[in-house]
Amino acid sequence: MDWGLQNRISRIIKPTDNRALMLAVDHGYFLGPTEKLEVPRKTISPLLTHCDSLMLTRGVQRTSVNPKFPIPIVLRVSGGSSIIGTDLSNEEITVSIKDAIRLNASALAMSIFVGSKYEKQTIVNLGKLVSEAEEFGIPVLAVTAVGKEIGQKDARYLSLACRIAAEQGAHIVKTYYCDNFEKVVDSCPVPIIVAGGKKIPERNALELTYNSIKGGAVGVDMGRNIWQSDNPISMIRAVRSIVHGNSNVNDAFTLYQKLCKENPVKNSLKKQKIKNIQPKKGNNFQPKKGNNFQPKKGNNFQPKKGNNFQPKKGNNFQPKKGNNIQPKKGNNFQPKKGNNFQPKKGNNFQPKKGNNFQPKKGNI
Ligand code: R5P
Repeated sequence: MDWGLQNRISRIIKPTDNRALMLAVDHGYFLGPTEKLEVPRKTISPLLTHCDSLMLTRGVQRTSVNPKFPIPIVLRVSGGSSIIGTDLSNEEITVSIKDAIRLNASALAMSIFVGSKYEKQTIVNLGKLVSEAEEFGIPVLAVTAVGKEIGQKDARYLSLACRIAAEQGAHIVKTYYCDNFEKVVDSCPVPIIVAGGKKIPERNALELTYNSIKGGAVGVDMGRNIWQSDNPISMIRAVRSIVHGNSNVNDAFTLYQKLCKENPVKNSLKKQKIKNIQPKKGNNFQPKKGNNFQPKKGNNFQPKKGNNFQPKKGNNFQPKKGNNIQPKKGNNFQPKKGNNFQPKKGNNFQPKKGNNFQPKKGNI
C-alpha cells in the first residue's frame, strides 16, 4: 500500500490499537437540520477533542470547523437526494477530488444502496471514486446505506453489501450492527466501522458499541447517539472507553453516569431545540396555530416588527413601537404611547390618553 494511503488510514484507524472513533455529523446532507445538529458548530466544537476523526460534508467543514484544529476529516462526497424526495438511493458524487484535496480530507465517504433502484449507479460511482482517489493516495470509506429501512437489514444483506463495497476497492466499510454480526465482518476483507443509527437509550448505545467491537469492527462512526444524548461529552467519553479503553458495557455506563454527575449541565445543545416546547402554566399568551414558539411564564415578550401574530382576547401584551399588529375584534389591549398601528375595522378599543394614533376611516 502506498505510503500516503497508509498514512491517511492511520489517521482514522489508530495504529496503536487498530481502533477508530469517528464522530458522524454529515446527516444534514439529506436530512437538513437534524435535531441537535441545527447549528453544526455548537454540536461539533465541544466533542472535537474526544473523537479520532470527523465525518461531514464540505459545507459543514468550511462553515463550522476550525481549520486550525488538527482533526482528520472523512469527507462525504455523495449526495443528491433528500428525505422528502422520491428515492434516497439516487445519489451521485457531488465533490471533486480537487476540492477534497483542498480540504485536506483524510478519506472520502460515499454511500452505496445495494438492492435499491439505483444500486448500479451507486456501485459504479464507488468504483470510479476509488480509482480517482487512489491516484492521490486518499482512502475511500463506503457506507452500505439502507435508506428508510434502517434497523431492518440482517447479516445476510449486510454481508452482501459490505462485500460488494470491498470488492469495488473501498478501504473501509461502514455498516450497521445486526445479529450474527461476525458473519458480516468475516466475509469483508477490509476494516468495518459501525454506524450508531437512531437515538436509543445511552446504555443500549454503549451495548451496541461493545458488541460491534467484540464482533470484529474496528470502531464506530456514531452521530445521533452521541449528540442527541442529554450529555454528549459524557456519552462520547463513555463510547471512547469501550473503543480505545476496553471497557465493558457496565464500566462504560458507570463512567457515563459519573461524568454526568460531575458535569450536571444538562446538554449544552438543548437551546438548539426550537419546536414542540410547551408553555408553562400561567402563560396567557397564545400563538397562532403553526407557530412553534412558546414564551416562558413571566416573559413580557414583544413580537418583532413584521410578525403578524394575533393575541387572543384577554391578553394584555403591548406591541412595541413600529409593530403593525392588529388585535382581534374584542381585545381591549392598549398600544403603547408612540405606536401608530391601526386596529381593524370593527374593533372598539380606545387608545390611552397621550397616544397619537389615528383610527382608519371606517373604524368606530
Ligand atoms: C450515514 O452515512 C449517515 O449520514 C451517518 O453518518 C450515519 O448514519 C452515522 O450516524 P448515526 O450514528 O447517527 O447513524
